[in-house]
Amino acid sequence: MRVLLTGGSGFIGSHIAILLLERGFDVVILDSFVNSSPNVIIRIKKYLDNKDLNYKLETINGDIRDKKILDKIFIDCIKENKPINTVIHLAGLKSVYESLSNPLHYWDVNVFGTLNLLLTMKEYECYSLVFSSSATIYGLSDSVPMAEDHTISPINPYGKTKVAIENMFYDLYNSNLNSWKICSLRYFNPVGAHPSGLIGEDPIGIPNNLFPFITQVAIGTQKLLNIYGDDWGTRDGTGIRDYIHIIDLAEGHLASIDYFNSTESCLEFINLGSGKGYSVFQIIRQFELSTGRKIPFSIQDRRDGDVAKSFADISKAKKLLGWTPKRSLEQICLDGWNWQIKNPHGYG
Ligand code: NAD
Ligand code: UD1
Repeated sequence: MRVLLTGGSGFIGSHIAILLLERGFDVVILDSFVNSSPNVIIRIKKYLDNKDLNYKLETINGDIRDKKILDKIFIDCIKENKPINTVIHLAGLKSVYESLSNPLHYWDVNVFGTLNLLLTMKEYECYSLVFSSSATIYGLSDSVPMAEDHTISPINPYGKTKVAIENMFYDLYNSNLNSWKICSLRYFNPVGAHPSGLIGEDPIGIPNNLFPFITQVAIGTQKLLNIYGDDWGTRDGTGIRDYIHIIDLAEGHLASIDYFNSTESCLEFINLGSGKGYSVFQIIRQFELSTGRKIPFSIQDRRDGDVAKSFADISKAKKLLGWTPKRSLEQICLDGWNWQIKNPHGYG
């Protein structure tokens, strides 16, 4: 089976690529490298070569908004007699702050890019799609755990583009109930790294998110962690989130492909999280315990757009996909730290 993996050089995509190739899928990665390094591909290959695995990976440097490139990928695969059977679509822009200052760019890349991909899939009769949606679409709400029927009310352009894409799926699916198989996976907070230490998260500039910030404090790239509020209505006053090991998250994509094999057609919106909520202080404590590194911090004002608590109800993913997250918070800290010490400057 051949999978087109858009955004396959990014944080999440690179981990999915390894799992797909280990499972024997042929993979075509399409990435424009606007937010990732070509070294990621070298690392993926290095990992598989070290394991002496036979694999078929092709990488195309291109933009999902470029119809000619998409056409060429699908046509070339058909000519090889190995058409694309499934698309895992992760290519897109993900910064909340950037989306506030440049919303049209977000609509262009995320929404127009996805529309372009769907048009191409339809044209070449490829009807199976796994998509990277986000828990950010649930907006500001402390009512937890959040199930898939939680109110959708994104508060920033980034979140709005994810909702627009999900709406597009809805219309498309209803236009032809017998052909499409779509899983729109709503990620909570993917963290950690591949246990090999060869691939991991490498944010450009100062990280916005908690986990990469902590590993950068531990390695000395950042001096101290600013904690955005210790007066939230939570057990220790700091924000609670659902941190999921990146490999558990990646496995959710393979489980979605397996699910496609058992159904005629579907459109499912599915949370992927650990189903557990941890506070900022709990994360710091666990990280310090697991790694022996001290994380100095300073309490600051709350951050705009934050909520006290957010974590997933993952019963749908468990039931429908037969998927369950297996890795602990300790494993997250160990793997995240292993990646950071082996790659103090990320991919360099
Ligand atoms: P990432 O930025 O590391 O990966 C995205 C990849 O897409 C990058 O390699 C980038 O170069 C590529 N890309 C961007 N625009 C492109 C374009 N126009 N054409 C081709 N390639 C393009 O991000 P990630 O963390 O791996 O996230 C992957 C997806 O998951 C994104 O769609 C993101 O919105 C979604 N998501 C991420 C998180 C998270 O916390 N990381 C949470 C929820 C949803
Ligand atoms: C953030 C985004 C969200 C996006 C998600 C995944 C905001 C407001 N929300 O969510 O839209 O989908 O990332 O990319 O940007 N924290 C600190 N200090 C830091 C960083 C974070 O105290 O330096 C706290 C936050 O206040 C929060 C927790 O740590 O309580 C987790 O923050 P973060 O990793 O940014 O994730 P989200 O807030 O879930």
